[in-house]
Amino acid sequence: MIPVILSGGTGSRLWPLSRKNKPKQFLNLFGEHSLFQETVLRLSGLDELQPPMIICNENHRFMVGDQLGELGLSATEIILEPHARNTAPAVTLAALRALEGADDPILLILAADHVIKDVPVFHAAIEDALKLARQNHLVTFGIQADQPHTGYGYIESAEKGQAAKVVRFIEKPDLATAESYLKAGNFYWNSGMFMFKASVFIEEMQKFAPEIVQACRAALNNIRTDLDFTRLDAEAFQHCPSDSVDYAVMEKTQQAMVVPLDAGWSDVGSWSSLWENHPHDEHGNVCIGDVVTESSRNCYIHSENRLVTAIGVEDLIIVETHDAVMVLPKSRSQDVKTLVERLNDES
Ligand code: GDD
Ligand code: MG
Repeated sequence: MIPVILSGGTGSRLWPLSRKNKPKQFLNLFGEHSLFQETVLRLSGLDELQPPMIICNENHRFMVGDQLGELGLSATEIILEPHARNTAPAVTLAALRALEGADDPILLILAADHVIKDVPVFHAAIEDALKLARQNHLVTFGIQADQPHTGYGYIESAEKGQAAKVVRFIEKPDLATAESYLKAGNFYWNSGMFMFKASVFIEEMQKFAPEIVQACRAALNNIRTDLDFTRLDAEAFQHCPSDSVDYAVMEKTQQAMVVPLDAGWSDVGSWSSLWENHPHDEHGNVCIGDVVTESSRNCYIHSENRLVTAIGVEDLIIVETHDAVMVLPKSRSQDVKTLVERLNDES
């Protein structure tokens, strides 16, 4: 089994900490290790595990190399994307490269921005998924949905509480649809982690998004290896359509199975999810760095350089970095992405 770590996202909802040159997956948001490093470390102990394949933006290559080096680990391969084309091309590149070897390995696709608290339970789910992947299924890991989150994909399962066939897969539904799924009870959130044989994924991509497979093959036709890095043909990859695995394959395939995962999973997607995932003080605040609060409750306050103080506020996110300060109500955490798009347009 080869873990494939998708590390090319921009993490814009965690601006101003997460930046183009150092997106959230490479930040130490929870202490000693970055989210990317945690993703690699939590695989330790699994059987028949090969070193990971990393797919990232070329600008982050040294960060990936250094962060693996700090752990004393190396990769099977680090594939560098000259342009971000979302996850379907990234996984296709990994699968095509894996198939250049003698066998048809099973790939465990992992996002680099997740927190998983219970590693033994996670490993047990991987063992369950392996059996299904060997039978040519595309396996997803489903998280019991407990709120109508619109930032996740939803999986309708044929049976509750055990590995089962996926009846439907719906990527990021609107709120009313998400609410109806929550009521129905047999829906999971898609964790964004998958497992399948490399050949099975490519067959499905060939059916549903052949132009992506073609562009990825072209980009791999003329690769350059430089230190530990595999550089694609930038011109060929530029023509690759952008799409996610979820829209390109998971919504369309008939071969998907879901394995339930109850391992304290969360996607560290926004400031409010960071607040949820940190221990709170007795007033419900999470204070990182030099922060003093008075009569304030349920806030996430992050200071990088200066003393940050707050009096009498509730449910706020306050983030201070060397060149930006952001203040917003916790309920608007998803809107940071729009703000960042606006700042990018204006700069
Ligand atoms: N190499 C590469 N190239 N990686 C990428 C790219 C890219 O162009 N775009 C995103 N990634 C990486 C991100 O760094 C992250 O680790 C992972 O792929 C998933 O991308 P996100 O952008 O974080 O996806 P999402 O959170 O909106 O949605 C996905 O995850 C949800 C759970 O967290 C979907 O799979 C949803 O269905 C799922 O619910
Ligand atoms: Mg994500």
